[in-house]
Amino acid sequence: MNEKAYFLRSGIMELWHDKTLDDFTQDRKVLKIIKNYLRPEKLAEAKKEGVGFYLHGKNGTGKTLLLNTAFKEILKIYKVRIISFQTLVTNFANGWYDQDKRSEYVQMMQSTDFLGIDEIGKQHKQKESELAITVLDTVLRYRVQRKKPLWCTSNVTAEEMEGLYGKDIASMLAECCLPLEVAGEDMRIVVNKKNRRRFLDYE
Ligand SMILES: Nc1ncnc2c1ncn2[C@@H]1O[C@H](COP(=O)(O)OP(=O)(O)OP(=O)(O)O)[C@@H](O)[C@H]1O
Ligand SMILES: [Mg+2]
Repeated sequence: MNEKAYFLRSGIMELWHDKTLDDFTQDRKVLKIIKNYLRPEKLAEAKKEGVGFYLHGKNGTGKTLLLNTAFKEILKIYKVRIISFQTLVTNFANGWYDQDKRSEYVQMMQSTDFLGIDEIGKQHKQKESELAITVLDTVLRYRVQRKKPLWCTSNVTAEEMEGLYGKDIASMLAECCLPLEVAGEDMRIVVNKKNRRRFLDYE
């Protein structure tokens, strides 16, 4: 399988194929922590102990960029999978009726060494739906009990998590993911300004 196909099968989309960790230019402290975690001996430790990160911060600070570029490094050694929370919830719901979808979902949960769930709590800032809570509870329980690392990204802080998802989930998340705030400005605005200059300003 070529590299591109392998990235896609691991849930790493085209946008991230040419990017590396060094494209992340904002929060130097966060970058240092992640690079340290990715050192082979640390990574082996993280895998054995089931330790991941909970990357949180405002829109466009580079959380999804960090998740994808870090997982591109991890997949050189271990099996990784990134999935958006929205897709995870949809697949889970479809799996109730569809045997193939269900086994695909279970397979992903069991065989993935490092699982990344992108954008938890994006849709519902008020209160999460019962289904979303059930899905997150199932995934977290599975990963925590088998000491399998999980990375998450979210705009919700670790403290707000309890109000949105309840005590059980907040405490399981705290058990398996180290909270890491990704500070900085909204890079989408910066990228957008650059594109405006490139494509809209002409002589
Ligand atoms: N620190 C950075 N340096 C350079 N480019 C960046 C940086 N952070 C983000 N970008 C670029 O800005 C865009 C948005 O980044 P990304 O999707 O990672 O943000 P996010 O934190 O996940 O946002 P959200 O909370 O809305 O999901 C992407 O195109 C990404 O490549
Ligand atoms: Mg994101």
